[in-house]
Amino acid sequence: MKFNNLIIYYLSGTGNALKASEWLIEKASECGMKTSIHSIDRFKDMVLRETNDKTLFAFCYPTHGFNPAPLMLKFMFKFPRGKADVVFVNTRGGLKFKKMYFPGLSGLAQILPMAILKIKGYKIAGSLPFDLPSNWISLHPGLTNNAVNDIVNRRRGQMKNFAGRLFKNGKAYNYKFFLYMPLDIAVIPIAAGYYFFFRFVLAKSFYATSDCNDCRICVKNCPTESIKIVGSRPYWKYTCESCMRCISTCPKKSIQTAHSFIIPMLYFLSVLPVAAAIYNAFNINIGHGVLNYAITKMLNWIFTLTAVFAAYLIFSFLLKLKPINKFFEYTSLTRYWRRYLFPGTKIKNL
Ligand SMILES: Cc1cc2nc3c(=O)[nH]c(=O)nc-3n(C[C@H](O)[C@H](O)[C@H](O)COP(=O)(O)O)c2cc1C
Repeated sequence: MKFNNLIIYYLSGTGNALKASEWLIEKASECGMKTSIHSIDRFKDMVLRETNDKTLFAFCYPTHGFNPAPLMLKFMFKFPRGKADVVFVNTRGGLKFKKMYFPGLSGLAQILPMAILKIKGYKIAGSLPFDLPSNWISLHPGLTNNAVNDIVNRRRGQMKNFAGRLFKNGKAYNYKFFLYMPLDIAVIPIAAGYYFFFRFVLAKSFYATSDCNDCRICVKNCPTESIKIVGSRPYWKYTCESCMRCISTCPKKSIQTAHSFIIPMLYFLSVLPVAAAIYNAFNINIGHGVLNYAITKMLNWIFTLTAVFAAYLIFSFLLKLKPINKFFEYTSLTRYWRRYLFPGTKIKNL
């Protein structure tokens, strides 16, 4: 074996990246390697584990908006320089309709971590875009048990095979990494839009219905400490990464996505020509060109985010009124949708 020590750092909203890490550990143990696994939830200080010259670091994390989950990205930026080998497993959202399987898409979720760790001096030993059931239940209903099991059963063997090659040869790539590369590059502008704008909007799309009994399980388990209690109700901060843990684990199923709040808000704000109004008011001739376009876009985004922030404050206040709370509950699609957690996942293990 090329390695004798596997150290995994993982982040997992709903258990997929955790399961991928556990499968990696299983194979490493079969190969007689020493293993350790560490959640990066709420990480504050970077603690580098004991290493030797045959150490392999693995980073396992979900793909969010064609990016690595932002908390994992922050972790990688803070990761100390080194010379060891590193491997990346980004779990993606796979879907199954009838008999057809649909893969997820990584975008920057592989390329960016590789570049960061390479710059820090590490050797890239491999990468695996890994399709597990999609957990984006603000966007679509959770998959049925059958679809989840079918997707999971296809993946277990793939991880064992990948890990076997990696530990034996010291390098392993999955063909999907190369196959999807053109598409991954094509969606970079969308990935940037998600990272700098859309994820903040999504953070403000959660709320608790009047079924919430103030148990605070969501607050205790949020990986980014983004939920606070305001007047005995959960309130989502901008730092929320929409990892879906809170909405998927609320025992009362009281956490919902406020579709009837966020979609009309976004539409309304997107048609307001704020940047143009500022140019008019100050008599600025912005002209044409890429830079000017970027400035205009940025001004509109800053305005939209500020407006969403203010509207969410008012929205949270109004939710105290039962009829209003009920209105948003019955018009939230998630009220009617299945939740998703990787089968058998316990919230305390995430
Ligand atoms: C906010 C959000 C954004 C997502 N974006 C993507 C994406 O760009 N590409 C993709 O393949 N899957 C995407 N997904 C699906 C998750 O990456 C996928 O289900 C992942 O396996 C979840 O892992 P976890 O259970 O460890 O959090 C997204 C999920 C969420 C909640």
